Amino acid sequence: MLDTTAINNLSQRIPSDFIIGAATASWQVEGDSAGRGRSIWDDFAAVPGNIADGTVADPACDHVNRLEEDLDHLAWLGVDAYRFSVSWPRVMPEAKAASEAGLSFYDRLVDGLIKRNIKPVLTLYHWDLPSELEAIGGWNNKDIHKHFADYTELVAKRLGDRVAMWATLNEPWVSAFLGYATKIHAPGHGDPAKGLEAAYRLMTAHASGLEVLRSHGLSNLGTVLNLTTVIADDAEVEPVADYVDLLQNRFWLDLLAGRPIDGQLIERTKDITDWAFVEQEQLKKIAAPIDWLGINYYTPFRLIAASEQSKKAVGQDFSLFPGTPAGAAMNPLEPRTEMGWEIYSPSITSTLKQTADRLPDVPLYITENGGAFDDKLVDGEVHDEGRVSYFLSHISAALDAKDQGVDLRGYFAWSLLDNIEWAEGLAKRFGIIYVDHVTQVRTPKDSAKLIKAMVEARG
Ligand code: FCB
Repeated sequence: MLDTTAINNLSQRIPSDFIIGAATASWQVEGDSAGRGRSIWDDFAAVPGNIADGTVADPACDHVNRLEEDLDHLAWLGVDAYRFSVSWPRVMPEAKAASEAGLSFYDRLVDGLIKRNIKPVLTLYHWDLPSELEAIGGWNNKDIHKHFADYTELVAKRLGDRVAMWATLNEPWVSAFLGYATKIHAPGHGDPAKGLEAAYRLMTAHASGLEVLRSHGLSNLGTVLNLTTVIADDAEVEPVADYVDLLQNRFWLDLLAGRPIDGQLIERTKDITDWAFVEQEQLKKIAAPIDWLGINYYTPFRLIAASEQSKKAVGQDFSLFPGTPAGAAMNPLEPRTEMGWEIYSPSITSTLKQTADRLPDVPLYITENGGAFDDKLVDGEVHDEGRVSYFLSHISAALDAKDQGVDLRGYFAWSLLDNIEWAEGLAKRFGIIYVDHVTQVRTPKDSAKLIKAMVEARG
């Protein structure tokens, strides 16, 4: 049973123009890989061991073939907006010619949303780089931003008249550091130098994409970063925490704000790279104003001094990230989600506040927030109390930041559907709608009913 008092109390705090939405990403939900070109995630998934349960791109949520049904679920939820991503290899197989079939899928998606009075919020790059581009160096190719500009041009021409909000990239930190610096994500290079260059080149692509979108007279243009609050639980790990914060948060925000690359970063990475790939002209372009910034927030990064005991700690190993000083371990406290991520809602407040300080005067959105829980479908219902309480506490804590002056404009739940959680495969469920991955039957969980009730009761 949902706690209607809690929902009503929360809803009273949500202004009527505050956007509430749900989010997905192409490779995680679409399936139908035969209808598109190959991406780095198809190649990565084909190597045994890369994806925990051996999941591959098909059928995912078979979203391409079940588009109408999924749109109807969104309409039932009553959300204002749907954040999805375009698959670059679906609209530009082999990163060359346009695919009419691919483009027309997104036409139907966008038109179907508008028909249901839902704003289309489009992300251009949510990690599925065409394999042919990886073959020429991917995010390390010095011309990758030109390829991204061509792709953006194609999508802008086709959908520009109907998309409400545009994001260039999703979480370049993940692309660069999990995909290039380490082997956790596709393409899995495990080379810190490649990771640092990818971080920069992703931002050059952001800049070129933004320029193309502006040249089409489009507005409401932004990008999406995964930001968080880094907590040092021991005074001695403060220097490590400061560097983790730099790599995770300040590096990206400073580029967008037009600040020079931090001296500490250059110093700590000097044995890895000389940063000779950075061009001043590009830095200027990266600092072009954006209309909004999206923050994907899930969990804080809590650090303790590395010790025998902390070796047992679960969570991200920060020593994997380029230049990170030794001496600290990640220490997520209980309660945790199925991903092992600490549930700590005050960090969404502090993350919003620190972002607004670092990049002032840019409207903010929470573009992803949610959790993986051990859901059970029983008699046609999923009572996902853990997720319901996660949403209630985090939406409330996000509104606290708004009350304290942060220009927060909206909130998107991750995710509309249980989908492929990247290297974790299908085992980790983040959806507000349960998906039976054999029959593809969808069942709204209690958390979906929460979102629906919240939208209905809001201020
Ligand atoms: C984010 C990704 C998203 C999803 C969530 C759980 O890093 O943007 O696709 O996998 O994590």
